[in-house]
Amino acid sequence: MLNMLVSLRDWVDARLPIMRAWDTHMGGYYAPKNFNFWYFFGVLSLVVLVNQLLTGIWLTMMFVPDAERAFASVEYIMRDVDYGWIIRYMHSTGASAFFVVVYLHMFRALLYGSYRKPRELVWVFGMLIFFALMAEAFLGYILPWGQMSYWGAQVIVSLFGAIPVVGEPLVEWIRGDYLISGITLNRFFALHVVAVPIILLALVVLHLLALHEVGSNNPDGVEIKKHKDENGIPLDGIAFHPYYTVHDIVGIVVFLMVFVSVIFFFPEMGGYFLEHANFEEANALKTPAHIAPVWYFTPFYSVLRAVPDKLFGFIAFGASVAILFALPWLDRSPVKSIRYKGPISKMFLLVFTATFLILGVLGVKSPNVERTILAQICSIIYFTFFLAMPFWSKIDKCKPEPDRITMNGGIGIAGSLGAVLIIAVLTVGPLWLVEWLHSVNQAAAH
Ligand code: HEM
Repeated sequence: MLNMLVSLRDWVDARLPIMRAWDTHMGGYYAPKNFNFWYFFGVLSLVVLVNQLLTGIWLTMMFVPDAERAFASVEYIMRDVDYGWIIRYMHSTGASAFFVVVYLHMFRALLYGSYRKPRELVWVFGMLIFFALMAEAFLGYILPWGQMSYWGAQVIVSLFGAIPVVGEPLVEWIRGDYLISGITLNRFFALHVVAVPIILLALVVLHLLALHEVGSNNPDGVEIKKHKDENGIPLDGIAFHPYYTVHDIVGIVVFLMVFVSVIFFFPEMGGYFLEHANFEEANALKTPAHIAPVWYFTPFYSVLRAVPDKLFGFIAFGASVAILFALPWLDRSPVKSIRYKGPISKMFLLVFTATFLILGVLGVKSPNVERTILAQICSIIYFTFFLAMPFWSKIDKCKPEPDRITMNGGIGIAGSLGAVLIIAVLTVGPLWLVEWLHSVNQAAAH
């Protein structure tokens, strides 16, 4: 039996080099041996991607993309289809989990300068994935045909109307109608289940091919290819398989424990994963009191709302995502990793992280004068971080990068907790201040 399997493998391999591909990308791929916690989120993104594809296929078997029946078909999946509820919650929780792991994955790149030469293309493909992921999530959210599906789509699609001359015809072209309707639902369904997933998969393949061409970065930001043994194997590298495959299983198990806990105990996550208004069927004649996108869009949505003019708001919204593409060319620091960067870079990264979180929180809430002012200040800080990066990253006093990787060069648990605490204070402080100012102003007005 074993002999037969080996012959079959050799037969296929002579025609399609599967073993060579396995060797290039797994057993013979040497990754730096100092990967830490932050390096789990790439593989976790893959796990969530597979989860979304599989649960999506099963949901498509029962979902009806028709304005008259979409909402009821989701209720049917939840109540009548065997295990339908768990498949749906795996998919809806998976959407939020995708953004959690991808945001952490991107943050790791910021920490260790993983976007820097020679990994610019890895980053650019990553950004294209991020773009496709945002489109995929937006298109998917219209499908249950609840109030927030309908009105969220209405708000976002109508933004294109701000573009001079072509705006209005463009909006009509996207909707396929004079308002969001069953026709829009149909085309968004087609894009959500076929077009964008194909693009996403292709981009993920390109992302990994580009990464394996140049090799992985690591928490020290040093290139392991500089020091090789007589067989050409990096001295600071270990074979991805079996070492990192086994190592990654630990991360996947911990992730799955958190993931299933959310599915079983908090699938709506207090209205953040599934918004309360979406349990009511779409009604074109009834606008919800407060329309907010799902949490993962809110940092960028806050930038949009912070600008009073519709067209400039739309441009700022697009620019807040697009500017991330330029990161590899904005960072002029002599070192890659935050471990060896100086106080200016560390301060900017802490402030930027808090700013992004504040924008995220503000985007969930309904706007008022005080919150809008904070959103405006944060939007300015957000863009300053990127636009001024060529200057501050260059003048910062960095430590010399080591020649070889270090195994315990990080800031440790105490240092990490300290950084989390600083970010928490920088985030909660301004948010608390605007709420307090708002209540004082309200009291004065009465
Ligand atoms: C479906 C989404 C994604 C998947 C499945 C994915 C997968 C992966 C995997 C498996 C790795 C190697 C392991 C690791 O370094 O963690 C990786 C590395 C990397 N990814 Fe992604 N990724 C995704 C999205 C993104 C996004 C949105 C960005 C940034 C815009 C990004 C930027 C990077 C970078 C810069 C690296 C190299 C990291 C290093 O060597 O230090 N990825 N990705």
